[in-house]
This record gives sequence, C-alpha cells and structure tokens, in this order.
Amino acid sequence: MKESILVLDFGGQYNQLIARRVRECNVYCEVHPYTMTVEEIKAMAPDGIILTGGPNSVYDMSSPHGDAALFDMGIPILGICYGAQLMAWTLGGKVATAPVSEYGKTEVKITDKTGLLKDVSDTTVAWMSHTDYIETVPEGFKVTASTLVCPVAAMENEEKKLYAFQYHPEVTHSQEGMKMLSAFVHGPCGCKGEWKMDSFVENSITEIREKVGSGKVLCALSGGVDSSVAAVLMSKAVGKQLTCVFVDHGLLRKNEGDEVEAIFGPEGDYDLNFIRVNAQQRFYKALEGVTEPEAKRKIIGEEFIRVFEEEAKKIGAVDYLVQGTIYPDVIESGLGKSAVIKSHHNVGGLPDYVDFKEIIEPLRMLFKDEVRKAGLELGIPEYLVYRQPFPGPGLGVRIIGEITEEKVKIVQDADAIFREEVAAAGLAGSISQYFAALTNMRSVGVMGDFRTYDYAVALRAVTTSDFMTAESAKLPWEVIEKVTSRIVNEVDHVNRVLYDCTGKPPGTVEFE
Ligand code: XMP
Repeated sequence: MKESILVLDFGGQYNQLIARRVRECNVYCEVHPYTMTVEEIKAMAPDGIILTGGPNSVYDMSSPHGDAALFDMGIPILGICYGAQLMAWTLGGKVATAPVSEYGKTEVKITDKTGLLKDVSDTTVAWMSHTDYIETVPEGFKVTASTLVCPVAAMENEEKKLYAFQYHPEVTHSQEGMKMLSAFVHGPCGCKGEWKMDSFVENSITEIREKVGSGKVLCALSGGVDSSVAAVLMSKAVGKQLTCVFVDHGLLRKNEGDEVEAIFGPEGDYDLNFIRVNAQQRFYKALEGVTEPEAKRKIIGEEFIRVFEEEAKKIGAVDYLVQGTIYPDVIESGLGKSAVIKSHHNVGGLPDYVDFKEIIEPLRMLFKDEVRKAGLELGIPEYLVYRQPFPGPGLGVRIIGEITEEKVKIVQDADAIFREEVAAAGLAGSISQYFAALTNMRSVGVMGDFRTYDYAVALRAVTTSDFMTAESAKLPWEVIEKVTSRIVNEVDHVNRVLYDCTGKPPGTVEFE
C-alpha cells in the first residue's frame, strides 16, 4: 500500500501549499474537501490527515465541521489554524475570539519539547493569521507552545496521535515549519518518504489507464508547458487512443507552430495522433478591423473553441477531454456534467458542450515547478519544460490596435531577436517573462539618407514570482542596445525600439 497523507480542505488559502510541503517530504498527498466521509477516508487509508485553516469560527454552527468520527479513526491527525481549533472544539476544548488577533511573523515559545516539536528551537518564528484561539485544550491534551497573546500555539495528545498548530507551518515565513511538518509525516504517520515525481508519473499512468479503458481521449495542445506535460503523460498511458489537437491561430511566436509539430507530430518523439489545424487566415479574418482589446480576446477565444469543436466532431465519439489544468486553475469537472471551463484558461477557453464523459486533469494537484519536474521525468526536452509563459491569445495581446498578418510578422521577428539576445547574454533563467510587443505608434526616423515613418516596437521584460505583481527587469544596457540595433536593422517597418519600465501594478505584463 503506498504511503499517503490526506489534506482535508476547510477553505484556507494555503491548502495546496500544505500538500506541496508533504510532497517535499517525499510522501504522496491529496487534498479533498472537508465533506469527505469517514467511509471514503477509510477506503483511501491515508497514513495521516491534515486539517487545514479556513476563514470560519468553529463555534458558529454554520461553519464546516467535518465528521467528528474522524478523530476516532486511529489515524494521526494534525490540525492547522482553523483545523487546530476544530480539533480542540470537537473534542471538548474551548475556542473563543482572541483578545488580540495575530497576523504575520510571530515569536513562538516551545513550552514542551516533545512530539512534533522535539527538535525545534526553544523559541522560533512562525506565521500566524487568526482572530480565534484555543482557550482551553481538550482532556488528554497538553499545551506544547505559546506566544505572548496566544496561550495555545500548539497542543498534542501523543497517545491518540492528535496534534494541532495555531500557526501555519507550511508558509516559508515559519522558520522551522518544514521540520514540524516532516516530524508529523515521518513520526506518528510513520511514512518512510519514498514517493518521488517518478512515482507521480507512474501512478498517474496506471490510474489513467484504469479510468480510460479503451475510450478515446482528446487533448488541446498549445505547446505550452502544462498542456505538453499533460499530453505526454496521457500518451504514455493510452498511446494511440489519444488525439492531440494543436490549433495554429497565426498568433504564435516565430516558428512556434513548426516547433510544436516537430515534437508532437508524426516525425516527433511521441506515438500519438496529432492534428495541426492551420487556422491562421480564419483568425486574421475574424480579427479584421477590431481594435478593442477585450473584443480581440473574445474573438480569439471564441474562434479557438469553434475550431476545436469542429475537430472534435470529425474525430467523433470522444469519451474524455484532457486539460493541462494545474493548481491553482483547478476547475469543477465531473461525470455527466457539462464542462465548466475558466475563461482565462491558456487555450482561451474550451468547448462547453457535453459530449465528453469526463474531463481528465492529470496535473490539477501540482504547482508549476512540480509540473516541470514531472515533464523532465517524462523525458520532455528541457527547453520545452522551462519555457516562459505564453498567453493563450498569443501575439494578439501584444499587438496594439488592429491585428494584421504584416504586424504579426513584425512582432514575431522582433521578439525572436530579443529572445535570442537574452539567451546569448545568459539572462534567460533570471527573467520571468520577456517579449517584444508592437505599439500602434508610428513615428519619423531616418535610415541612410531617407526619411522613414514606421512602427515602434516595445520590449518588455519582467521578474516576478507569481505574475500577480511584477517588476520591470533591469536588463544590461548593452543587451538593450544590441537588441535595438538588430531590430531596426533586421525587421522591416520598425524604426524605433522602446523599453517598458512599468511595473505591475500599475501596468500588466501583457499589453492588452
Ligand atoms: P497580465 O498581463 O495579466 O499577465 O499581467 C500575467 C500573466 O498571465 C499571462 N496571461 C495569460 N495567460 N491566457 C493565458 O493563458 C491569457 O489570456 C493571458 N493573459 C495574460 C501573461 O502572459 C503573464 O504571464
């Protein structure tokens, strides 16, 4: 039986992070809603359970309480924040509104160095985020840590293998959080920690085979990291039962369509059915005369769906749709339901007709860097696995104003030069995203003895960890100069290059 930890989700914001930390302990981990029944938990037979934080108050009867029988299963349980309060409250302790809420890094005094806190320093810093606290611990529990304002920062009942932390060990601000989580996973849960990304790949392949049987599977492949990893995983699992549809909307980077085809097409490395739909002209036509950014996005998304639908119909009787959804774009999906797809999905939204038995999202539990690890494990080339993000609407959001074939060519060529020079300068790994965009501005210049009246290309390079906020990258001036000189010399219709120094906010990463 493979080792596993179950994370029961009570609505906290760090829940997937907890799962990720458990995986960092080399133990397989799944996150399920708190409504999972005791029978379902028994069937999964986890080695330990972690109850997450959440925004509610346990003494409010409308809050999620899970099944009280959970605590009698004999499975080690760790409650975190709301999960800690839930454990205390359910087992007869007292939870109340704290006189002082604690937020942020907080000094925690370990008052009893036993159990999970055995190897933690006498005083440590942990991340707090709570307004309620445990006032009295339940019978059989002892307090093991406290803060200036929180009498029960940690408690445990070793005999029953029940543990609780008011703070969040999973966030990096908790200095010894990993040590504490690891103590739970490897201590009372008894996990040896033999799970690795290759086990994820192997397990997924087995599970997918069982689920799909002899059914037909369709995958929308964009050539991006997530959909590529999902496609290769599926291909390893079900071989030719898989068909990948790659829609070339004419808004890809230079040579990208051919690159994707070279890897996944008939001459490529994978034994799958690959359909490339060259829909460039169809997209250009639909975008003719359109200048408003949202209208352009909608047209691209809509057109994509239509093309994809047409291909799906041609193949016929497809049972499963594969999506490269990763956490945090996890979406609702399920048997017999129509697919509910996020509009910002990286293929611009997929069809919501109901002809699929089920949507398969093999990467839905993984973070981006974990997806990359899985990709390497699957033998996908590094340059593909470490690709920078590329938006679903592609160059459509990097051309201000009307999109024309000519403008696409300009931005493709300028972008290729920029990427080449960033790579040559050895900077590719230190910039999160970088590209050229075509402004709608034309200005006067001089080339040789002639007046020019041409476009200005904008270079954009940002560093960011989550893409929610970003800083403009401070590229070396020599690199900018070289790129500028090459672009104005090599790309027709460009006589000026600008560098975008705007952060996000107030800018966004993309131009539209
Ligand atoms: P913004 O421009 O919103 O971009 O600051 C943040 C990140 O999201 C990417 N992006 C998209 N990705 N579909 C996508 O799959 C889209 O419609 C889309 N719009 C922006 C962008 O490239 C950046 O990494």
